Amino acid sequence: MCGIVGYLGEKDSKQILLDGLKELEYRGYDSAGITILQNGNFSIYKSVGKLHNLIEKSRDFKVDGFSVGIGHTRWATHGKPTETNAHPHTGEMVHVVHNGIIENYQELKKELLEKGYSFYSQTDTEVIVHLFEENSKYCKSYLESFQKTISQLHGAYALLLLNRDESNRIYFAKEGSPLIIGTDTETGEQFFASSDAPLIGYVDSVIYLQDGEWGYVEQGKIYLYDKDGKEVEPKFSPLSKDRASAQKDGYRYFMEKEIYEQSQVISDTLMGRVVDSGIEFDEIEPSLFDGIDEVKLCGCGTSYHTALASMYLFERIAKIRVSVEFGSEFRYREPLLTKNILFIPISQSGETADTLASLKMAKEAGLKTLAVCNVDNSSIVRLSDKAILTRAGIEKGVASTKAFATQMVVLYMLALYIAQIRNNISQEELDNHLHILREIPNATIVQPRLHEKIKRLSKRYLHGHGFFFIGRDIFYPLALEGALKLKEISYLHAEGYPAGEMKHGPIALADPELFTIALLPENVLYEKTKSNIEELGARDSTICVISPKPFELADDFIQTSHHKHYILEFFEMMVVVQLLSMEVAIRLGNDVDMPRNLAKSVTVE
Ligand code: G6P
Repeated sequence: MCGIVGYLGEKDSKQILLDGLKELEYRGYDSAGITILQNGNFSIYKSVGKLHNLIEKSRDFKVDGFSVGIGHTRWATHGKPTETNAHPHTGEMVHVVHNGIIENYQELKKELLEKGYSFYSQTDTEVIVHLFEENSKYCKSYLESFQKTISQLHGAYALLLLNRDESNRIYFAKEGSPLIIGTDTETGEQFFASSDAPLIGYVDSVIYLQDGEWGYVEQGKIYLYDKDGKEVEPKFSPLSKDRASAQKDGYRYFMEKEIYEQSQVISDTLMGRVVDSGIEFDEIEPSLFDGIDEVKLCGCGTSYHTALASMYLFERIAKIRVSVEFGSEFRYREPLLTKNILFIPISQSGETADTLASLKMAKEAGLKTLAVCNVDNSSIVRLSDKAILTRAGIEKGVASTKAFATQMVVLYMLALYIAQIRNNISQEELDNHLHILREIPNATIVQPRLHEKIKRLSKRYLHGHGFFFIGRDIFYPLALEGALKLKEISYLHAEGYPAGEMKHGPIALADPELFTIALLPENVLYEKTKSNIEELGARDSTICVISPKPFELADDFIQTSHHKHYILEFFEMMVVVQLLSMEVAIRLGNDVDMPRNLAKSVTVE
């Protein structure tokens, strides 16, 4: 998804902007651009495709001395990924970068066209440029025209604006899309970014702008205003200096590194929460669950699969009714919301537009809300009454792996927590689950033997007319997640299906070119799942079975370890499907970390 960076200071602004955009690459983009303003002169560079094109294009441009600059990576929404549609957008006086969507851009554009402005791009962003220029004709100051401009925009935005007549200033505004300011108090340099990553190592404290906030920065000064134009005192938060965790550490891809990190980040997620005889969360009180008899789990993509898998655990362990929602469906389907429902948005990034809008709806209906999220201070965390963080660390691969793993662990602990405070579980059963929880880090260590086997097998799965990942019970959402991983990075068609449902339609597709990836745990519905796999085998589907027990009818077999409990099998099989998708994608020569058409954080609906 789109990314924004900005810089004001004496250093090489071109390099700082390009480095910042590099840090945002993992979010997905299809074009990029930068503008630098010095002494009333703009220098602008834009290019389609990856950042190296932009680097190449701006190679001969050198910045000397004080400058202000803005940069952007664009993920096309309005208009194709072309150079003209790439940001910054420009007029006579101003250059603008923008994330989000201006919903009333067509009305605004019409008015501006009537006034004689020309539009070059198909984007919604370009209206901001001309609106500012138009307002500047009548307003007493540029500050006033900026305020007027943003008051005319409907929708979501994080934006930076440079004005030719003010080469010492960057204007900013935030509504619905994240924007952060970083300041170096010693040098007076100012930085902007749409997420933490580009700021790490440059500044140690930041301001997470709130919706409705806007203003401008100059050297050593931040002028911040609220929606009504009242000056606001900036609130600084500390920012870690650790950049190492954001690097690949010798793995081929971030996704691979992140799969290998799962065992460690799961341990981190358990820390201080799995205690001697129960589950503890510093973040919540038992009273959060007073009067609650249903939990509504809501997410998108992989986080939706976490929700679906957690449903099995919540109903089974906590004995509480569960409903599961896609953010994009929930927000428009006029759901019946009563105050006995606890709303749980699940999100890696904490910025997913549909999950965020669903959360807002739940809040408006007066529901209690509890976020499960990986990014502290993200919009979803800030808006929820309470939040439990998943401690996965920065996840850079677009295909989510460790974030999913830690979400699953948090929700499993939460199911136990509810069971515990409601006395729905015996101490013996609880102890058994605590033991399982402590075992999960072991179950998710990537075994070299297993990885090697998957690597070798992957060469047989590079073609065919489709994949079915099948499983029953909690292994059905895992099958969905396995299929999502494969299609995200290999671009092969894959579906997840409940194993028992294949005979109600999909089995018609069975032939040797249809690949079935079957999740066959030994501790839940083994015989039932086995029969379903045999039904497919009998129709000549090519079958790869993932199971601790050898399965003689399988064409391929990936042997997992024997575990005492199906939840441990779930986590080990999770690693297997992640590795399988990754190895297939690598063999196909795809960019595993930045698959085509996808974005890490989807801040538009
Ligand atoms: C995007 C990502 C997916 C992710 C989904 C939800 O589509 O590519 O990997 O699962 O958004 O993101 P969230 O940050 O809310 O978990």
